[in-house]
Amino acid sequence: MPHEKNFPNLIKLKYIHDGVDGCLTVMENHREIPFSIKRVYYINKLKNKHAVRGMHAHKKLKQAIFCLQGSFSLSIDNGLEERRIKMHKSHVGVYLPPKVWHVMRRFSEDCVIMVVASDFYRERDYIRDYNEFKKYLKKHP
Ligand code: TYD
Repeated sequence: MPHEKNFPNLIKLKYIHDGVDGCLTVMENHREIPFSIKRVYYINKLKNKHAVRGMHAHKKLKQAIFCLQGSFSLSIDNGLEERRIKMHKSHVGVYLPPKVWHVMRRFSEDCVIMVVASDFYRERDYIRDYNEFKKYLKKHP
């Protein structure tokens, strides 16, 4: 699957729907997910309608983000272009390559977000200031 450098791509997962018995969805390393998964985290209990999460980019980390339940709005910015994606299908995720500024907002109360990441948590991989992000992009195009 070709993944545009530094631009987030949609990831469509295979799912097997067993009618009223539920739906099984699967992702595999280096298949639907364009890296090896080293960490998984999830976000739920989004009770604040005005919550804004993310607002950062990563220097090296690759991630894929999924909305397992409910919905939210994902803004992605690679320094050249900004796109907004409504996340509301549990089998459609977004690949977030390094050096992409991302913001999550407009969470439904039942929203459950799952993120798979290529590495362990390291605060020093984060860029949390937008001007720093733009400077980093100039230095590391
Ligand atoms: P952050 O990545 O800023 O969350 P979001 O992008 O959803 O707003 O992380 C929020 C806090 O959680 C921050 O203090 C770092 C901590 N954290 C960990 O300790 N381990 C992790 O794997 C992640 C993703 C965050």
